[in-house]
Amino acid sequence: MPDEYSHVEGARVLADLNALRGIGAYKTGVHKPTFSEPHMRSLQWLAARLPDAGLTATIDGIGNVFGTSKTAGRKLLAGSHLESQNFAGWLDGPLGVVYALEAARVINPDSDTSGTVEVAAWCDEEGHFGHFLGSRSYVGDMTEAEIDAARDRSSGRPLRDALRDAGLAGRVRVTAEPGRHIGYIEAHIEQGETLESNGLAIGVVTSIVGIWQYRISFVGEQNHAGTTRMSVRKDAGLALARLCVAIDDRFPAVCGPLTVWTTGRITLDPGAPSIIPGRADMLFQIRDDDPAVIDRLESVLRSLADEVAAHGRCGVTVERLRTGAPAMMALEFQQGIEAASAAFAGGRSVRMPSGAGHDAQVLATIVPAGMLFVPSIGGVSHHWSENTSDADIVTGAHVFVDACRRLLAG
Ligand code: GLV
Ligand code: MN
Ligand code: MN
Repeated sequence: MPDEYSHVEGARVLADLNALRGIGAYKTGVHKPTFSEPHMRSLQWLAARLPDAGLTATIDGIGNVFGTSKTAGRKLLAGSHLESQNFAGWLDGPLGVVYALEAARVINPDSDTSGTVEVAAWCDEEGHFGHFLGSRSYVGDMTEAEIDAARDRSSGRPLRDALRDAGLAGRVRVTAEPGRHIGYIEAHIEQGETLESNGLAIGVVTSIVGIWQYRISFVGEQNHAGTTRMSVRKDAGLALARLCVAIDDRFPAVCGPLTVWTTGRITLDPGAPSIIPGRADMLFQIRDDDPAVIDRLESVLRSLADEVAAHGRCGVTVERLRTGAPAMMALEFQQGIEAASAAFAGGRSVRMPSGAGHDAQVLATIVPAGMLFVPSIGGVSHHWSENTSDADIVTGAHVFVDACRRLLAG
């Protein structure tokens, strides 16, 4: 590995990631829902380290952490997020934040490199209160009314209460300063198995999927499970199950090669063994990097919902909750990451789309953006067992820092 440029301290990167894993630890992963005590402690942890990189730390009114510099010259923004899905993995988010911190620690004091790395930890990438709260606030795509209306998807707690309890109420929300950054770079675990199964070290992200999310509600008739004849039931739960099966039957003929769809939550009301559910709800998501494909699938979804309503004697409504645009990663960022992979990962890289959502897709609406992936063991993520080998983490850090240098050098 050439070391005339990187100067990454692999042991420091691993120690930082393990320190963050120790805050809110759950099995080998973490449980850090947005604005929970361990999440806030992780933000403080980062804020305390930013001065080591010559940066001034701020935690803003939506829970974003920024490390900013007063130095003149080219600036690159780097980051990811520190909250987790519930009872999930230790690297989804922190990897990119620690790489950004390491890049700032290595590059900012280095007189041989012109330019500065600034650091951001975006709040609530994992969508406990909506989606991309922090990065959307930064790009100016978040109204006070949206904050008023947002609630924690698990507990129903209003976002305003969470901000108050976290000590953030009344703080200014930092928004992007036009022209300040040459772009945004984010590292992340792949969360799939493309890299591992091909013996590769780095994914050079080309595009990030758009995510469209729906609440689909079924209204039937609650009644006795023993005395109501099958022919007259209006079983909302059965209607929901029919729709799930119909989606899986019909979507493959109209989807794109990379489209995915998921029913992530089902609730039956009242949810008791001796009662026919009178109401059922499902949260449903479609992802693709072509909005025209998702649009087409939404039409199919709505007509399937109508068919199920007619067949199941239940009312079915489809409400779109989220329309997330896909994003293309800037070509010069892809080239910079690829060149860094050639220098520090033996060229073991591949260009690939991201099926996961990332703050980089929000930042891409205002500045050129790029992402790199490191391998996920077994392709597992959004589960506490998520992991990446130490060797791959350290290689990724070298590639990330080298890519930052190349981008700052223009
Ligand atoms: C982000 O975590 C996603 O769900 O893609
Ligand atoms: Mn993530
Ligand atoms: Mn995630």
